[in-house]
Amino acid sequence: MLLWVLLLILGLLSRQAAIAKKSVVEPRPSWTPILEGEAVTLICHGVGPLKEERAWWYKNQQLRGILSTIIQTNHPGEYRCQTQGSTLSDPVNLVFSSDPLILQTPYSVFEGDTLVLRCRGKNTGTVSHMTYYKDKRKLRDLITDFDKFLSLSQVGLNDSSKYQCTRVVSSAWSTWRETSKNVAIQVQELFSPPELKTTTSEPIEGTPVNLSCETQLSPQRLDTKLYFSFTRDGMVITSSGKNSHVLQIPTIQTKDSGSYRCEAKAVTQNILKQSNYVKISVKIPVSQPFFNLSAFRAQASVGDVVEFHCKVLRGSFPIQYQFYHENTILENKIALSGDAVSFNLTMTVGHSGNYFCKANNSFSYQLSKNLTLSISGRSSTPNPYRVSSISDLQEPVYSNPSSQKELMPIYGNVNPVAENVVYSEVTSKEYGKEANNTKKLPEIEDSPVIYAEVKQKHQPRDSKKTNAADRRQDVAEN
Ligand SMILES: *[C@@H]1O[C@H](CO)[C@@H](O)[C@H](O)[C@H]1NC(C)=O
Ligand SMILES: *[C@@H]1O[C@H](CO)[C@@H](O)[C@H](O)[C@H]1NC(C)=O
Ligand SMILES: *[C@@H]1O[C@H](CO)[C@@H](O)[C@H](O)[C@H]1NC(C)=O
Ligand SMILES: *[C@@H]1O[C@H](CO)[C@@H](O)[C@H](O)[C@H]1NC(C)=O
Ligand SMILES: *[C@@H]1O[C@H](CO)[C@@H](O)[C@H](O)[C@H]1NC(C)=O
Ligand SMILES: *[C@@H]1O[C@H](CO)[C@@H](O)[C@H](O)[C@H]1NC(C)=O
Ligand SMILES: *[C@@H]1O[C@H](CO)[C@@H](O)[C@H](O)[C@H]1NC(C)=O
Repeated sequence: MLLWVLLLILGLLSRQAAIAKKSVVEPRPSWTPILEGEAVTLICHGVGPLKEERAWWYKNQQLRGILSTIIQTNHPGEYRCQTQGSTLSDPVNLVFSSDPLILQTPYSVFEGDTLVLRCRGKNTGTVSHMTYYKDKRKLRDLITDFDKFLSLSQVGLNDSSKYQCTRVVSSAWSTWRETSKNVAIQVQELFSPPELKTTTSEPIEGTPVNLSCETQLSPQRLDTKLYFSFTRDGMVITSSGKNSHVLQIPTIQTKDSGSYRCEAKAVTQNILKQSNYVKISVKIPVSQPFFNLSAFRAQASVGDVVEFHCKVLRGSFPIQYQFYHENTILENKIALSGDAVSFNLTMTVGHSGNYFCKANNSFSYQLSKNLTLSISGRSSTPNPYRVSSISDLQEPVYSNPSSQKELMPIYGNVNPVAENVVYSEVTSKEYGKEANNTKKLPEIEDSPVIYAEVKQKHQPRDSKKTNAADRRQDVAEN
């Protein structure tokens, strides 16, 4: 008795040590039910490295003893075993039948298997006819006693059904017909239908994305080899020679947008299952907006209408545009698609100062360069000066919309006689060259000509770089 307890404790300890390595009970022959009177051999397979010779055997939840790993029985019940190197097995239910005719089936059937059914009777005699049925419909007639198995290759889940057999037996004195019970067979899934998962369905251009094709093999068939493939919009991206279920895209591009699906294939069983679709749309950060005052040509006096334009070359829609005068928002527009947004403003003297626009989508923003404007006078004489855009393209920079504190009003530059005031067409390349020619204009004090001063505020290159670097850092910190 003491020895039993000791061994039980040892058994418990070893059960904890082995992580999910289950023992397996294998019945031989592996048919169910068993004809009454026949014996079954049960073999306990351990998973550990040891060639184990003894096992704990349980019947109907009760420990029956520490026996050989191979036992024989002719008693019905639920059998489990455990070797020292493995955990407790799943049960095997032994069913014995006293019926004159039985339909024997495997203990478990998985999709892709060949399902073999066997019709067996107790009575001896000459079998002249044997018939198998599926859902009461005749499946096959076998004429001889010799050929008594029915074999269905590559069964699928839809082969789950009720099966039955009959036979006609003759003895020296009579001929009779025998019918088996109707036996329900459940074909089990070898692996679950794959589910395609992505780290994000709206990745930002240039970031890494992983797609994984997730499926679960049946615990009884963990050694099944699965191959995976991925398609985008119906085109194969990785062929099913790969056994990795993860597709890694190190830097996703706009062309990678589309509808993805994956496929898991058990090659030996020739079973292929497809996943759901996952739509991936790659998001593009906004580029630095172009800002100009295009309608600002002939008459830029008080009372005139100036048309402001703001436009980004790249960026996912919707894009929100905001026009600023100094740090006050003049106009707020949302573009769902398309080109530049613009708006008209009627000039008053109070409209002198810095103008810029801001563009943002949900995850990035950029500010345009500043245009400085001075409004003065009151006349209708045409003025030949106008402002054109400042074309200085930049790579998109990730921006943190919350770091707006850097925008502080500066009024010092509104002075019309400042050195860097420009009165003619300005482009960033030609900046400075034409400044000399226009400098005299403010001296025509009594001239009826009305002018507008437009200054492109020059920024030292270095400070601009620092600015951009700061913004990148903001992103890194988020
Ligand atoms: C059973 O399923 C397989 C695929 O698993 C299919 O090819 C076959 O047509 C189905 N049979 C019936 C009768 O539905
Ligand atoms: C993608 O998978 C690899 C390998 O499993 C991992 O190192 C990486 O962090 C994953 N990337 C993302 C974005 O989840
Ligand atoms: C200002 O920008 C708009 C939109 O890009 C463009 O149509 C217009 O020609 C530009 N005006 C000037 C003066 O450059
Ligand atoms: C543009 O003007 C605004 C408002 O005056 C000012 O806060 C900002 O510093 C200016 N930006 C640049 C780049 O000069
Ligand atoms: C601004 O005014 C011009 C000229 O009147 C007109 O063509 C344009 O459509 C107006 N733009 C807006 C945004 O109202
Ligand atoms: C632009 O940024 C603001 C503030 O962060 C946000 O509320 C708004 O939704 C953004 N606009 C778009 C079109 O995503
Ligand atoms: C502008 O004027 C200054 C002095 O008036 C002169 O030294 C400089 O060379 C001029 N620049 C150009 C581009 O004409």
